[in-house]
Formats: sequence, C-alpha cells, structure tokens
Amino acid sequence: MITHRPRRNRKSQAIRNLVEETTLSVKDLIFPMFLIDGKNKKSEVKSMPGIYRLSSDLLIKEMESCMKLGISTFDLFPNIADKLKKKTASESLNEKGLYLRTIREIKKKLPEAVIMSDVAMDPYSSDGHDGFVVNGEIKNDETLDILAKMALAQAAAGVDIIGPSDMMDGRVGYIREELDMAGFTDVSIMSYTAKYASAFYGPFRDALDSAPKFGDKKTYQMNPANSKEALLEAQLDLEEGADFLMVKPALSYLDIIKSLNDNFNVPIAAYNVSGEYAMVKAAAAKGWIDNDRIRDEMLLSMKRAGAKIILTYFAKEYALKHKK
Ligand code: PBG
Repeated sequence: MITHRPRRNRKSQAIRNLVEETTLSVKDLIFPMFLIDGKNKKSEVKSMPGIYRLSSDLLIKEMESCMKLGISTFDLFPNIADKLKKKTASESLNEKGLYLRTIREIKKKLPEAVIMSDVAMDPYSSDGHDGFVVNGEIKNDETLDILAKMALAQAAAGVDIIGPSDMMDGRVGYIREELDMAGFTDVSIMSYTAKYASAFYGPFRDALDSAPKFGDKKTYQMNPANSKEALLEAQLDLEEGADFLMVKPALSYLDIIKSLNDNFNVPIAAYNVSGEYAMVKAAAAKGWIDNDRIRDEMLLSMKRAGAKIILTYFAKEYALKHKK
C-alpha cells in the first residue's frame, strides 16, 4: 500500500494549476536597456542577439511598445564615447550629455514609465572601474561623493529608482542622505547588494565598452565562494536606507536570493545578467535547447527562490510570448 501518492496532485493541468505555488508575471520584470548617442541608431550587441544599443528616439519608441505589453520599468545604461571618458567620470554630470538629456526626454514623453538608473563610474571612467582609481587602487571614500553627485543629477532629471551598482562601502547611506537633503525623499534606491565578481558580465561590458582597463573588480565585488558576506551587505544596505535589495547574477546565486528573502523584509530583486542571456541565446541558436521553455524555467526559478523582481534582457520577449 502506498499511502502518499504525490502524483495525484499532478494528474491534470487543472489540478497542477491549483497546486502551483509560484507564478511569474510581466509585472515582476524590469527591462535593462542600452542607450547610444545619435538619431535613428540601432546596433545589436553581438554577444546578446535581440538586444540593441538604441539612440534616444528609437529607445523611446521601444519603451512605448514595451509599455503596451505591460512592462512598466526600465533600467537604462549609457554607451559613452571613449573620448568622453575621464578619471573622474565627469560626463555623468553633464546635463546635456547622453544620459541625463535622454532621461529628461523620456520623462516628458512617457511620464508613466518608471525609470531606474545606474550609479557607478564604469560607463564614464577612463579606467573602466566602478570607483575612483589612484595608483591602481580603487578608492572607496573618494568615490562616494562622485556617486552621490551622479545620483542627485539623475534624481533631478526625473529618475524614480536609483541603482547603485558600484559596491563601494557606505554608498547607500551616503546617497540616501544627499537625496533627502536635496528634497528627493521620494526617490527610491535599489541597491546592488550582493553583486559578485562574476564572469557572467562579459557581454554587458561589450555592450558598453566598459571592461576594466587593468586588473579586475575583486576588491569591491564579492567572492562567488561566499554567502555570509551577502547577509552583511544586506544588513548594511537596509540600515542605510535601501528600498530593495538586489542579487546579481541570478542563476548561480539562487541560494543567496533565498537567504536574503528569508532574512530581510524588503522586496528582493534578481539581476538575470548578460552572460546568462547570452548562454541561452547561443545554445538555442544551435538548436540544442528550447529558448522559450528554458527562459521561462530560469525566470520562474528566480521567483521561486524569493526574488519578487527580476531584471532581465528577456523582458520584452517574455511579454510578447505571454501576451493575453
Ligand atoms: C557595472 C555594471 C555591470 C553590470 C551592471 N552594472 C558590470 C560590471 O560590474 O562590470 C552587469 C550587467 C549584466 O551583465 O547584464 N557597474
């Protein structure tokens, strides 16, 4: 006699639907997008088929079509011309520069769109690092002021969610205080809390030409071997005023997503990064895996692990495939 037969709860689609614990919705997704200078410009990121660097006119059109599909939130990353990159990332504060100008334009044309920004020096830095470099060293405290100025400029341009992706110590609190003092108390912070020194960022650095000019990011991004550190980072970010805690990358760090979700009472976000997207696209192009089923299974696993929010390059594709 077999008393417990778990298969009874799998016997039909209707029963399977009844016992289904996790559901994924377009509403959970944030779409990261790449911005380039110019007009009517669109260049595909080679290692990310289907993902483009777009000039602001095309970006706004693309955002509009995403919003019709139910995507509400967009995380913007600028591809800055090499000649504008400086040690101090000064281009990040240029009101007429690509990033701030485009954010203002978006807010005017698509006031409903929720805009998340990136706060880190690397897209604007001649060193290709997220922090300020002195004699080959990434300086923590010297970077904070640069990051806070960047965040303030973005908030003034209309950004809804500030996304510090730099992993400097104390930056969430520093940015929160500067924002509050300037009256931006309603601007949120989604902290890149547990951001690992990962090989999965390769295609993103291609998209922005932002690879470090020397060394690696291991003195500020986390060691993939560690999980306790993620709890410490989360505790600090929460104390410093973060509204959301993010884990990045997602797929190899589902345990970290779960442990943050189990321990902290703010929404957890997972960043399904460029390399994770590229692997699926490459294997699917060879006919080795089923793109759509793998995509949905991966995103679902992040949600099941405890991510309420997923930043993913699959956002539009997912929305199109699951159109009501
Ligand atoms: C850098 C930054 C990176 C990503 C987002 N912000 C890369 C890095 O740390 O080098 C990666 C995103 C992705 O791979 O999709 N501030």
